[in-house]
Amino acid sequence: MLKGKKIILGISGGIAAYKTPQLVRLLKKAGAEVRVALSAGGSRFVSELSLATVSGEPVYREIFPETGIPGMDFTRHISLGEWADILVIAPATANTLARLAAGLCDDMLTACFLTLRPGKSVLIYPAMDGQMYRSASVQRNIAMLKNQGCTIIEPENGDLASGQCGTGRMPEPETIASRIGIVLPDSQYDSPLKGKHVVVTAGPTREKIDGVRFISNYSSGKMGFALAEAAKERGAKVTLITGPVHLQTPEGVERLDVENACEMYAEAKRIYHSCSVFIAAAAVADYRPDTVYDGKLKKQNVEMQLRMVRNPDILAEFGAVKQSGQLAVGFALETDDGVENARKKLREKNLDLIACNTFDRKTSGFEVDTNVLTLIDRNLEETALPLMRKTEAARQLLDYIERLMDSEQ
Ligand SMILES: Cc1cc2nc3c(=O)[nH]c(=O)nc-3n(C[C@H](O)[C@H](O)[C@H](O)COP(=O)(O)O)c2cc1C
Repeated sequence: MLKGKKIILGISGGIAAYKTPQLVRLLKKAGAEVRVALSAGGSRFVSELSLATVSGEPVYREIFPETGIPGMDFTRHISLGEWADILVIAPATANTLARLAAGLCDDMLTACFLTLRPGKSVLIYPAMDGQMYRSASVQRNIAMLKNQGCTIIEPENGDLASGQCGTGRMPEPETIASRIGIVLPDSQYDSPLKGKHVVVTAGPTREKIDGVRFISNYSSGKMGFALAEAAKERGAKVTLITGPVHLQTPEGVERLDVENACEMYAEAKRIYHSCSVFIAAAAVADYRPDTVYDGKLKKQNVEMQLRMVRNPDILAEFGAVKQSGQLAVGFALETDDGVENARKKLREKNLDLIACNTFDRKTSGFEVDTNVLTLIDRNLEETALPLMRKTEAARQLLDYIERLMDSEQ
């Protein structure tokens, strides 16, 4: 994917800059040509010598060249930007975001941004303290850069250099490198998902008891949203059917909001026939109260019993009606005998792939940003993925789906 691609890596002065020599190494290993534009702030966090050594190129900093050096390119402040296929800025500090949004040109990093040829991509990874990231000024600058067509990747949640925990972390170099391959214009990367319709269900469902109460679960929708975004990045047409969550819709994804299992079933059923891949990541309630009371149920001085009835099994039904060429992918969250139960579910629901979700409140399962998945395919082949961010787990799951699609052709 990256072979022969010309990448400028802009590094500004955030603590995450320490990860960048590793990123340069990964990009070079993948066959890319990498030149580094380092801001003055960036040079306080990572050494120019390390970056020059791993990239095999001089590091670009000041706009003004030193005179008297034989062969010096005196217009390099223009030519470097013209050279590139993509400009990746990681980490992007609050300061550098402001400089980019304002159109300043006071170092080689900002000069590259202004001189990049039309149609070339800019991928920006803001990384900073969570409070700083949420500030109105930073958000305004991000919105301006998005409007100009830059791809801004929201920082991850986790431990920050400040010692606090929050949103502000730069993703790991492996994650950034794989994203660059996908975002690159005229990239050779041709996913079998390109142009295909992928349906993802996400989030919890709410099963009403009365006008003000419901039965639900802790699902946050993060895994499903990450899958929808990753499928979109690979060129799929994505429909995301989601229960009530507090997440932003990934760009370019069609979102259908539902509240309960029956509504999710109705939406899914409408598009069973048109989708190539159906990924059921939602935590759909198995049961709902038989009767939903109008208004608020009054407290009584006696015990109360709720009669529950089965909800439709959205994935099992898709598995039963799917045609050849359509793939059914499920999730199994189990507290006991996870893999064994996931295998059973795979067989019973006629699935092509199932991701068994290990339940551990701190690192995997509901609400958290990370997950530990074991993938089991229709041949009962097992792949255990290590602990990783849901965004990365989503990409690995889609890689697997792509391999299944390729093997069908
Ligand atoms: C220890 C330390 C860590 C910093 N980490 C960050 C950071 O992660 N993100 C950020 O936006 N600014 C951070 N800053 C502030 C920037 O370094 C500062 O705004 C600098 O002017 C950025 O310059 P540049 O954007 O030109 O590289 C940090 C400063 C210090 C002293």
